[in-house]
Amino acid sequence: MFLPQEIIRKKRDGVMLSQQDIQQFVAGITDNSVADSQIAALAMAIYFNGMELEENVHLALAMRDSGRRMHWKDLNLPGPIVDKHSTGGVGDVVSLMLGPMVAACGGFVPMISGRGLGHTGGTLDKLSAVPGYNPFPDPELFRKVVKEVGVAIIGQTSDLAPADRRFYATRDVTATVESIALITASILSKKLAAGLDVLVMDVKAGSGAFMPTMQKSIELAERIVKVGNGAGVATTALITEMSQPLASTAGNSIETREAVRYLKGDERNPRLHEVTMALCAQMLIGGKLASDEADARAKLQAALDSGRAAEIFGRMVTALGGPADFLENYDRHLAPAPIVRPVFADKTGFVGAMDTRGIGMAVCALGGGRRLASDELDFRVGLSQFVELGQNISKDTPLMMIHAADEASFEDAARRVKAAIRIDEIAPATLPQVYQIIRGE
Ligand code: URA
Repeated sequence: MFLPQEIIRKKRDGVMLSQQDIQQFVAGITDNSVADSQIAALAMAIYFNGMELEENVHLALAMRDSGRRMHWKDLNLPGPIVDKHSTGGVGDVVSLMLGPMVAACGGFVPMISGRGLGHTGGTLDKLSAVPGYNPFPDPELFRKVVKEVGVAIIGQTSDLAPADRRFYATRDVTATVESIALITASILSKKLAAGLDVLVMDVKAGSGAFMPTMQKSIELAERIVKVGNGAGVATTALITEMSQPLASTAGNSIETREAVRYLKGDERNPRLHEVTMALCAQMLIGGKLASDEADARAKLQAALDSGRAAEIFGRMVTALGGPADFLENYDRHLAPAPIVRPVFADKTGFVGAMDTRGIGMAVCALGGGRRLASDELDFRVGLSQFVELGQNISKDTPLMMIHAADEASFEDAARRVKAAIRIDEIAPATLPQVYQIIRGE
């Protein structure tokens, strides 16, 4: 007989759980036969005792199998199924360019994206700023767009890894989110359900990252690579820089606009370009669409220069209900905020450090992120034209532009972003954009 308390007891006492223990517990989470208190107790036992690699693989697979699994074999696609997942950040608009760029090089990208969480923006919210875009197409339309366009970016439906939703909700209120084993299983359960051949993880490090320290970011990346490969998906991870916003903008419409301009070659923030290229390159190499980094970068650059990646983005938007002329007339379709004004530094010096989380919270407070899951977003608001770390500024240099709905929210955001930027007398050391690439054995 299955007794959840016996499984909790084993984990509490540091005994390794069997595949059957894990499968039974996860089935109980899914069919509600396990109580919230028991989920909380197991989560806390795992938080303290961790999981062996083998247990972690079994947990990720059991959570994958708690709902619908996508299959692509029957479509006979002439390329690998590849995707990227980021632990999230501020101005992390990479997915919007990466999907079309990789599709232009022969990959098929069924990207299931999330809403913004806390200070971090969400790909789904950015695309929802496009009028008419339907992030919840029926599964057949999703498959059709992936097959015909090469990429479809949509939202997570409730039938994908449902055990994760209940498990995460319990972790969220019991101080057990911060377990490397549980984060790994949670992220991978959803990615494994999407039926990928190749996954590239972008694990951020720095003041805007989900993980609190570089060491923890590396630990998470290493664990995801091992468990992902153990579960049958060729997984690689990059540790990337998040000590300042990645793009030149943060906010939903404004980031989508930046993505389109990037794809069309109108403007390419060099830091954003480097991270995007590095992630895309690993996807091409993992999917055997490029022989090495140089080959991958040449192919990706050609996809940008020829306009093919931009064209694919436009086709994806149209296929999912957005305007047919979005690529050409994005400014007509993305409503601006009523107030767009700069905020100035009070001091002369070098931009020495940024509280990137604080900057993300300023976007949230402007109405661009949610405090409650039920909050409606104002897609128009956000921040743009950020100063960069190391930049030499004076009192009349704008720190950034604030896009606000009204005067009160402008003033609040101005106070927040000024508090989030430290001005020093000496320039800080230059940081790399990619700290490390972690590959499977
Ligand atoms: N994101 C997820 O999907 N799961 C976690 O546990 C943490 C971040």
